Amino acid sequence: MAVTINGKPQAIQLGDRLIDVINRSGVSIPQVCYHPQLGPIQTCDTCMVEVDGTLVRACGTTAAEGMSVVTSSARADAAQREAFDRILGNHLLYCTVCDNNNGNCTVHNTTKLLAVEHQQIPYRAKPYEVDMSNPFYRYDPDQCILCGRCVEACQTLQVNETLTINWEDPHPRVLWDGGAPIGESSCVSCGHCVTVCPCNALMERSMLGEAGYMTALPKSALDGMIDVVKGIEPEVGYGPILKLSEMESDMRESRTKRTKTVCTYCGVGCSFDIWTRDRHILKVEPAHGAANGVSTCIKGKFGWDYVNSPDRLTKPLIREGDAFREATWDEALDLVARKFTEIKAATGPDSLAFISSSKCTNEESYLMQKLARAVIGTNNMDNCSRYCQAPATTGLFRTVGYGGDSGSIYDIAQAELVVIIGSNTAESHPVLATRVKRAHKMHGQKLIVSDLRQNEMAQRADLFLRPRPGTDLIWLSAVTKYIFDNNLADDRFIQQWVNKLDEFKQSLESFTLQMASERCGLPVETLIKVARMIVDAKTVCVLWAMGVTQHTMGSDTSTAISNLLLATGNYMKPGTGAYPLRGHNNVQGASDHGAMPNYFPGYQKVDDPEIRAKFEKAWNVALPPKPGLDNHMMIDAIQEGKLKAMYLFGEEMSLVDSNANYVSDALSKLDFFVVQEIFFSETCRFADVILPACPSLEKEGTFTNTERRIQRLHQVFEPLEDSRPDWIIIRDIANRLGAGWHYDHPSQIYEEIAPLTPLMAGVTYERLEGYKTLQWPVAAEGSDQPLLYTKQFKFPDGKATFFPVPWTEPTDQQDAEYDLHLNNGRLLEHFHEGNLTYRTEGIREKTPCTFIEVSPELAQERGIETGSWVQLTSRYGKVRAQAVITTRVHGKELYMPMNSTEEPVNRLTSSYTDKVTHTPAYKESSVQLRVLGPVGQDPLPPTNSRHGHPTPQAGVEVERKWQRKDYRQPGNQLVQIQTR
Ligand code: SF4
Ligand code: SF4
Ligand code: SF4
Ligand code: FES
Repeated sequence: MAVTINGKPQAIQLGDRLIDVINRSGVSIPQVCYHPQLGPIQTCDTCMVEVDGTLVRACGTTAAEGMSVVTSSARADAAQREAFDRILGNHLLYCTVCDNNNGNCTVHNTTKLLAVEHQQIPYRAKPYEVDMSNPFYRYDPDQCILCGRCVEACQTLQVNETLTINWEDPHPRVLWDGGAPIGESSCVSCGHCVTVCPCNALMERSMLGEAGYMTALPKSALDGMIDVVKGIEPEVGYGPILKLSEMESDMRESRTKRTKTVCTYCGVGCSFDIWTRDRHILKVEPAHGAANGVSTCIKGKFGWDYVNSPDRLTKPLIREGDAFREATWDEALDLVARKFTEIKAATGPDSLAFISSSKCTNEESYLMQKLARAVIGTNNMDNCSRYCQAPATTGLFRTVGYGGDSGSIYDIAQAELVVIIGSNTAESHPVLATRVKRAHKMHGQKLIVSDLRQNEMAQRADLFLRPRPGTDLIWLSAVTKYIFDNNLADDRFIQQWVNKLDEFKQSLESFTLQMASERCGLPVETLIKVARMIVDAKTVCVLWAMGVTQHTMGSDTSTAISNLLLATGNYMKPGTGAYPLRGHNNVQGASDHGAMPNYFPGYQKVDDPEIRAKFEKAWNVALPPKPGLDNHMMIDAIQEGKLKAMYLFGEEMSLVDSNANYVSDALSKLDFFVVQEIFFSETCRFADVILPACPSLEKEGTFTNTERRIQRLHQVFEPLEDSRPDWIIIRDIANRLGAGWHYDHPSQIYEEIAPLTPLMAGVTYERLEGYKTLQWPVAAEGSDQPLLYTKQFKFPDGKATFFPVPWTEPTDQQDAEYDLHLNNGRLLEHFHEGNLTYRTEGIREKTPCTFIEVSPELAQERGIETGSWVQLTSRYGKVRAQAVITTRVHGKELYMPMNSTEEPVNRLTSSYTDKVTHTPAYKESSVQLRVLGPVGQDPLPPTNSRHGHPTPQAGVEVERKWQRKDYRQPGNQLVQIQTR
């Protein structure tokens, strides 16, 4: 199919937007409001072209076979100019003194493209103040061209539904919650609106006065310069004025650095350019991220102040009695090497243990496990996937073979039905959640949520289940049985692709709807509805997280999810599959690269003689043949006196491990403890040597996100003062122990990993340059697999297998003394305990502390108000915090976010674990509640977005603009071709 553009043929595909076809052809037309990731907004009218003699908006028109498109006829040109003239009536061109004068301002560039010299419609200021009430960005109504990109982004991409434009007002502007100050609105500071704003109306506050050479001048001086520009424009035209500003913009190039990196927080793996001037972060600019496009959440967009925090560790510290003293690197590393050697000689290699960080790079995890195995000689090696993800991996190993998401975030967005189980996705994986929210709002995707808590996704769901704690396995199995009993299973798929059907069906016998209804507290009709929705959908993705995995049945419930997907044929095609949402930025990668007690990199078993021989040959050492201790077993081994020394990096173990008091006690008993960190964490208190490391912005390497997507991070800053990248510290310790490693760059580490690891055989730094990514498995020739199972499952016969799982009672159950169930998890604004995020002032201001969510029923029964101080006591410890009364929780269910180092929720959790993986049963916790003292203020301040009042609407609603009396379509004979 083809169209002609100015007489030249141009190929098109079904459904192409005309504006994309024109852009592909290389013809330039103005397009101020158009953003490919938002779709047609149609507010600016600057993209007018003639199609078969009729003026249309190119962005709002679908290309069709044979169209004759003329972009530069007199009519089209006049319409484009008229439309842009109206825009200039809303915007002052003071580019030379504007912080947005960086070569990418759409208003500036369109002025240049159209060679505008003078405007017809004079600029008119709007009768509103600049809004500076959000700590991260500001809105200047006087520069706002009312393009509506921000509204569209907030309503249909982020789907926070905060922004609107009051089109009917004499002076329209962008509104937050219908007219609240930004800082008191429902805005979650995700930054989407700021990122897509085509000019300087919305800007990051970190840019203001920092990006330009003259933008830091006092306001009076700036106003004076703006007046000069306005004064000379009628005389000289915009041409010379723009030239001057472009010279200034070019000068900025020499001091503004833009570096692509990957977010250091959650497993979504957003990537973006970081703009810096010296060590100042000007802004985070997402644009082409494979996982995120233009999207970010508050943490990735604005949560980077920790990198330059004065609290950073910059010198090695050595314990002396109860205190630490600064030391040189040589002294500290020599001490580590000497103590490791002595302890290994005295009590053997298995009396040492190593814990890698899922916040650090793949290359660093690889080196850590190589240090443990090849240099020390132990498999006592683990990472924090033990605390969250190992059960999901087990469920997938058992049934489909690979321990990773079945597809991409793109598949989740495409699915007809998404089922979310035990995941607060909108807060824990915010950008991934936006894809579900968008598909649900805009494209008719259906959503089922099963959770103890009515979180945002549950509020949006078509069906929300609130099963009793620890009973997900039961309803999943009952729904699967119902599907079989009513001949609704995908028999053809099962016959071709799944083993052990009969055994599995038998195992389901006890899971009747009645039994599930009684145990889970869910009506039978609801369970039938779940089954019907699943079988009625052509494509289903199931997303789950720690509400499933952090139970004694974590592995089994994960298995039950995969069984259900197999029974309904929801693998092996786009828009289907299993998606355990990985928590940390590199929790997938840490395990992939061998930071586990039983696997070399690529899940190659340490007790397989052939595999071991391969690594022995490559590393030129004899390797220990038996799996080592996982991090849960390590704590017990310390308590038993068997484990003497530990080397841990980038992990706040004393707070994030379950039963924190017991863990801290164990850490205090170590003979020698090395902690490598960027801040003096709680865990550092137990260390003998503390080594100052670098955050992700100060190093090179790769991260692997939840989609198995490997992405490169490029170094933004030099290491702060005397801190060092983790891979260099690990290398130097290994070399002091005689390893003879010669890595000068992380790429050399990957050159060693790839040939040893079939899963990553084709991974090279060249193939990951810039924004290029690979989703494992990566074949030697470089092809990857966004959809994991296309030709077969990862078992010798290529088939998947049903895996029967029984249900067992949860642990740490409620009784008369501990009568409330405590749930816990993340908060949007903070990452985990908040060691990084509390160092961003704006985040601290909006979420200064943790709190305890109490249901209105329980609050009434116990006389608790929002702000009441309460003490929770479990069988393991106690914490104090203020209550927040909310319908998000129900009955005797409490919820405590984990963002506290002073009152960590894990003082309350137990040492029970998942039977298979030893993942702590964080979500099986009973407590008693005591009300303390007088009522204080709401722990969520008035500036917290949870107090806001969103204003949902379909998008920017441009039709309301077109209905204004003073609106006239530019050009004539305009025919509106609607595509939305
Ligand atoms: S939530 Fe706030 S930051 Fe995010 S798009 Fe909406 S208004 Fe902008
Ligand atoms: S603030 Fe919104 S409407 Fe105004 S120019 Fe920016 S994106 Fe467009
Ligand atoms: S925390 Fe997660 S969702 Fe937020 S920007 Fe980082 S990777 Fe993206
Ligand atoms: S680009 Fe704005 S209407 Fe088409």
